[in-house]
Amino acid sequence: MAQVIEVTPQFRLAGDLGIRRLGFGAMRLPTKGFHGPPRDPDVGRAVLRRAVELGVDHIDTAAFYRSADGTVRANALIRDALHPYRPGLVIATKVGPVFGPDGPRQLPARDLRAAVEDNLRTLGLDRLDLVYLRIGKMEVPHGESIAERFEALAALREAGLIRHLGLSNVDLAQLDEASAIAPVVAVQNSFYIANRDDAALLDACAARGIAFAPFFPLGGSGADLDDARVAKVAARHAATPPQIALAWLLAISPVTLAIPGTGSLAHLEANIAAGSIALTDEDLAELAAAAPMVPSRR
Ligand SMILES: NC(=O)c1ccc[n+]([C@@H]2O[C@H](COP(=O)([O-])OP(=O)(O)OC[C@H]3O[C@@H](n4cnc5c(N)ncnc54)[C@H](OP(=O)(O)O)[C@@H]3O)[C@@H](O)[C@H]2O)c1
Repeated sequence: MAQVIEVTPQFRLAGDLGIRRLGFGAMRLPTKGFHGPPRDPDVGRAVLRRAVELGVDHIDTAAFYRSADGTVRANALIRDALHPYRPGLVIATKVGPVFGPDGPRQLPARDLRAAVEDNLRTLGLDRLDLVYLRIGKMEVPHGESIAERFEALAALREAGLIRHLGLSNVDLAQLDEASAIAPVVAVQNSFYIANRDDAALLDACAARGIAFAPFFPLGGSGADLDDARVAKVAARHAATPPQIALAWLLAISPVTLAIPGTGSLAHLEANIAAGSIALTDEDLAELAAAAPMVPSRR
C-alpha cells in the first residue's frame, strides 16, 4: 500500500518569519520571457491580488524584473497591487546583477547599497525581509569569492535596511564563505524535477535549516516537463506535469520553497492547487527515476 508523503505547508525563515512553502515568483509578470515585450500590467496586478487571496505570503522579486522597454516592472506592480502590505507578507528580492546591452554584469560591493535602496523605494518599504546576493550569469561561478559583496549586505542588515540575507546561484564553498560573515537564511539556485545538479547543496541547506527556494521550479517554461513518468503520476492525481513538479519539490525536503512564476491567472490557480496534491512514496520513487530529462546545466 503506497504511503502518502507528509508535507508541512509552512517554513520558518531563520526560525523567525513563518511563510507558506508554496509562494510566487514575480519575474514573469512584466514579460513572458526575460526582458521581452511587456505584458498587460492590469493582468499582472490581478495575478498578484489573486495570489495573496489564495494565501500566498512569500513573493520573490527583483528591481531588474522588467519588460525590455522598461514600461512594466515587477516591483512597481507589487507596490501598486498590494501596498500597504498585509502583515506577514514576505517580499524577497535580490541584488547583484545589472543588465546592459552586453548582458548582465555584477555590481561591485560599493554599489550594493544603492541597489538595496532602489528595492526599498520601488517596493515602498523601510526594510526588506529577505535580500539575496545573486552572483554569476547562468552558471554558478565556482571559485569566485563573494566575501566583499556579502560583507556589504551584512552591513546593510546591521544598519536595519535588511532583515535576512540569502544567496543565489552559489555553491557550497560560497555558502560557507558567506555564512562565516552573517547568517544565510535562504539559497536560490536553479533546481527542478529534471535538473537536480544541486541536490547536495539542498541537503546541506536542509542540514542547516536554510530554505532552498529554487528558481526555474517549472524548468523555466512550464513546458519543459515532458516525461512519461511525470505524465503517469500526473494522470494518477488528475493533475498536470507542472503541478506534479511543484508537489515533488515540496515533498522532497522540508526546506524547499516553491516560487513558480506566472503572469497568468489560470496558471496561478493551477500552481496553488498543486499544494494540495498528496504524493505517495510510490510516486516519488517513479519521479526519482525521471531525472534528468534535460542536459545538466553544468
Ligand atoms: N535567482 C535567479 O537568478 C532567478 C532566475 C530566474 C527566476 N528567478 C525567480 O524564480 C521564479 C520562478 O522562475 P521562473 O518564473 O523563471 O520559471 P518557472 O517558474 O520555472 O516557469 C515559469 C514559466 O512557466 C509558465 N507556467 C507557470 N505556471 C504554469 C502552469 N501551471 N502550467 C504551464 N505553464 C506554466 C510561465 O508562463 P505563464 O507566465 O504564461 O504562466 C512561465 O513561462 C521567478 O519568477 C523569479 O522570481 C530567480
